[in-house]
Amino acid sequence: MAKAPHSFFARIYDLFMVPQDRFGLRHQRQRLCNEAAGKVLEIAIGTGLNIPHYRDAETVVGIDNNRAMLRRAIRRTWETKIPIDLVAADARALPFPDSTFDAVVVGLSLCTIPDPAMTLEELRRVTVPEARLHFLEHVRSTKPSIARRQDRFARLWERISGGCRANQDTAGLINESNWTINDMWSSDGGGLIQGTALAD
Ligand SMILES: C[S@@+](CC[C@H](N)C(=O)[O-])C[C@H]1O[C@@H](n2cnc3c(N)ncnc32)[C@H](O)[C@@H]1O
Repeated sequence: MAKAPHSFFARIYDLFMVPQDRFGLRHQRQRLCNEAAGKVLEIAIGTGLNIPHYRDAETVVGIDNNRAMLRRAIRRTWETKIPIDLVAADARALPFPDSTFDAVVVGLSLCTIPDPAMTLEELRRVTVPEARLHFLEHVRSTKPSIARRQDRFARLWERISGGCRANQDTAGLINESNWTINDMWSSDGGGLIQGTALAD
């Protein structure tokens, strides 16, 4: 099966996400963005569903490698007074100098970006030594029955969702990188994790 084209994915993304936001995901997005302070980088910003939730950020730079998603995100920049810059870029090779940002936000994306370990390393490069990484990610569930189902449908889901590896151990990947998880909590039967990691 061929991967869905970028513009198609961008068109259906909000239809798929907005109901999930209404039924709870919005509160997790608020929590994700509320504490991100200073110069913030959001990677894989998509259609910008996190944008209205920034509170303490001085500026936000949002990157994504799908221009069709970014075009949709532009409208959401009008929902906040915080200056937001949108840049087409690959999270694995960011077009920013070392130590540019105070914090990074990543939502539902370390499971989709092809090389999360390389991405985490790149995030460390572009952030200051005391930076924080705020994350909200779909992961392999801690409940064996759910995890087995995720494993069974993993390949099919990856193909229809634009590359999402829903059974990835993202917390493990973060701790193996040059970030260390500082606090983390989970929901959805352990299939959704949220928290903060500190730069090593
Ligand atoms: C599931 S969406 C999440 C969008 C948004 N963060 C949210 O919370 O709604 C995953 C996003 O990752 C982006 N993406 C995938 N690979 C990427 C890469 N290598 N560099 C930058 N963005 C990437 C996709 O274009 C898509 O917008």
